[in-house]
Amino acid sequence: MPRLGKREKWKRNQSLRCVLEPDLPVPGTECFEHRGRWAAEIFGNDRPIVLELGCGKGRFTLFMAQQFPDRNFIGLDLKGHRFWTGADEAERLGITNVVYLRAAVQEIERYFGPEEISEFWLTFSDPQPKDGTGRKRITSARFVERYRRIAALGARLHIKTDSALVHDLALEELGPDFLLQSRDVHGPWIETVPEPLQALLRFQTHYEQRWIREGRKIHYLGLEL
Ligand SMILES: C[S@@+](CC[C@H](N)C(=O)[O-])C[C@H]1O[C@@H](n2cnc3c(N)ncnc32)[C@H](O)[C@@H]1O
Repeated sequence: MPRLGKREKWKRNQSLRCVLEPDLPVPGTECFEHRGRWAAEIFGNDRPIVLELGCGKGRFTLFMAQQFPDRNFIGLDLKGHRFWTGADEAERLGITNVVYLRAAVQEIERYFGPEEISEFWLTFSDPQPKDGTGRKRITSARFVERYRRIAALGARLHIKTDSALVHDLALEELGPDFLLQSRDVHGPWIETVPEPLQALLRFQTHYEQRWIREGRKIHYLGLEL
């Protein structure tokens, strides 16, 4: 198949069942119509929801959905043409426990209600090195405080990154109680990680493959919110 451009992917997204591109008024107080009722109204069940923030092509979200048919998965990204890849594949494979949401992390409380999310994944988030106050870096304590507002009891947060800055700032701001932590995910450490987390961490996202090719080490932090 020829490579598709952005416009074609945007167009194709419109006919994919698993793509949600709500246009909330900006700025506005109105919330997403399914806020607080995602499991029942979007997935038609009462299963836990796992949210990947900045999912890019969305292949990791899809991989998780395939591994855990008894959970619901949402891949969120600002850019619909990126997650078209995962969404298109999900539809072709008939996978129904995953959806992709075009939204900004900054707006997260307009989409999700209190206690709605059981697990968060932040994969290769932009490091925003000039963002001293953490207003843009979606791994900052400021953002994590917002994730807590929509987190279910005992929810977990996973941060996987090539950026020592992202890792070290998170360690400083969110520590010291991490469940797991590594500065070299794909080194010998991975063998010590219990399943099923080990299989999830072994999966390499699009950006991760790129950074590994460039010889960068992959960092990971896992904590309970
Ligand atoms: C470096 S890429 C990583 C993509 C994917 N997680 C991966 O590992 O291949 C960062 C992604 O985050 C998305 N992103 C950045 N800031 C965002 C925001 N504020 N809200 C939603 N998505 C955001 C970008 O559109 C991009 O797809």
